[in-house]
Amino acid sequence: MPTLTAAAHPPHRLDEISLGKIVQIREQLLTAQAAGARVFRFESGDPGFAPPAHVLEAVTRAGLAGQTHYVPNNGTPELRRALAAKAVAKNRIAGVRESDVFVTNGAMHALFVVFGSLLDPGDEVVIPDPMWTEVAENICLAGGVPVGVPLRPDQDFAYRPEAIERALTPRTRAIFLNSPHNPTGAVLSRATLQAILDLARARDLWIVADEAYEDVIYPPAAHTSIAALAGDDWERIVSIYSFSKSHAMAGLRIGYFLTRSPLLQERAPKLLRCTINGVNSLAQAAALAAVTGNQDHVAAMRAEYQLRRDLLLDAFRGLDGFDPFPPQGTFFLWVTLDPAVYARLGLADADALSRRLAAQGIGNTPGDAFGLACPDALRFSSSCDTAMVRAGAAALRHALAVS
Ligand SMILES: Cc1ncc(COP(=O)(O)O)c(C=O)c1O
Repeated sequence: MPTLTAAAHPPHRLDEISLGKIVQIREQLLTAQAAGARVFRFESGDPGFAPPAHVLEAVTRAGLAGQTHYVPNNGTPELRRALAAKAVAKNRIAGVRESDVFVTNGAMHALFVVFGSLLDPGDEVVIPDPMWTEVAENICLAGGVPVGVPLRPDQDFAYRPEAIERALTPRTRAIFLNSPHNPTGAVLSRATLQAILDLARARDLWIVADEAYEDVIYPPAAHTSIAALAGDDWERIVSIYSFSKSHAMAGLRIGYFLTRSPLLQERAPKLLRCTINGVNSLAQAAALAAVTGNQDHVAAMRAEYQLRRDLLLDAFRGLDGFDPFPPQGTFFLWVTLDPAVYARLGLADADALSRRLAAQGIGNTPGDAFGLACPDALRFSSSCDTAMVRAGAAALRHALAVS
C-alpha cells in the first residue's frame, strides 16, 4: 500500500540541497536578539540601507496608477529597454537590445533560470571554490555537476585560467565566474577575464558571469563585465545582475540577466513563466526608477562599505593566526585561520569557532559553508550598519583575543 510518509519516499534531488549554515546562524542570532541579547549581524548579506526615496516613491506612484496587474513574462518593456541602455552605457556590452534582457526575482532566480535553460543532466560547470553556495545548488537543481576550482590565499584567491583549464572535461558545458567575489571580495582583472574568454572560445564553452556586486567595489579596483571584452560576439556569455546590492533593494527581489543566445532566449521564458510569470509589477517600477534616476546613493553606499571594511580589517590587526584578505569589492571579509588558533582557543576547528562566536552574538559564516577548499576560514559581512560594524568589530577583537 503506497504511503505519503517521508520515510517511504525514494531519494529526491532536493534531499541533497541544504538550507545552509548562514540561515542556521541567522536564526540563532534572531532568536537571541528577540530575547534581548545584543547581536552583530555579520552573517547576513542584506544591505542595511533603505533604497533611495525616488525608488520608494516610484512604488507608491505605480500602485496608485493601477500597476497591480499581471505583467509581461520577461519584464516590462520600459524596464527591459532601460536595462539594455544601462548594459551598453555602464557595462560597455555591445549592442544590447530590449529583447536580450530578462527580468528575474533577484540574481538567485536568474541563476535558477539560466542553469535550468542551459544544462542537460550530467553537464559540468566549473566554479570557484569557495563560492556562495547557492551557485552550486542551482547547478545541481538543473541536473548539472559543479566542479570546484580551489582558490588559494597565497594567490590572493585568484580564479586562475590555468586552473580552470585543468578542471575542464568533455562534459564541461560552462565556466561560471563571480567578480567581485562572494565570499572573498577578490576582483578579476581584465587580463584574467580576457584569458577566461579566450579559453571558453577555444573550448566552445558558455560563460555565466555573476556580477551582482558590480557596484560594491573599491578603487583602484574597477569592475569589468566579461561580455564587454567580447565585442559583438558575446552570444556564449550570460551576464547576471541584481538590484539587491547596487540599490539596497534585496527585499524587493529583482535582478536580471542578459543573453543574446537564441537557444536561451527561447528556453528561459518558459522557466520564467512556470516559476513567476513576471516579476512583481511594483518591484519593476522601483527598478526602473533605480536604473534611470539619480545614482548618488550608489557611490554613497560604496564609501560607507569601504569605511566598514576598514573597521573590520582593523579588528584583526596584530591578531596572531588570523589572516584577513583585504577585499577589493563586496561587503565581505574573508579571514583565513592558522589551524594553530584552534588549540589556542580550545576548539576543534573553524566550525566550532564559528559556533562559539555566534553563541556570543557575533554573526559569521564558516569556510566550509562555501565549498571544500577553504575549511580554515570565516566570512564576516558588514552589510548591516556602520554603528553595528564599529561595535561588532570591537566585540570580535575581544572575543578572539581572549576566547
Ligand atoms: C554572488 C551572488 N550572486 C547572486 C546573489 C543573489 O542576489 P539576489 O537574489 O538578492 O539578487 C547573491 C546574494 O547574496 C550573491 O552573493
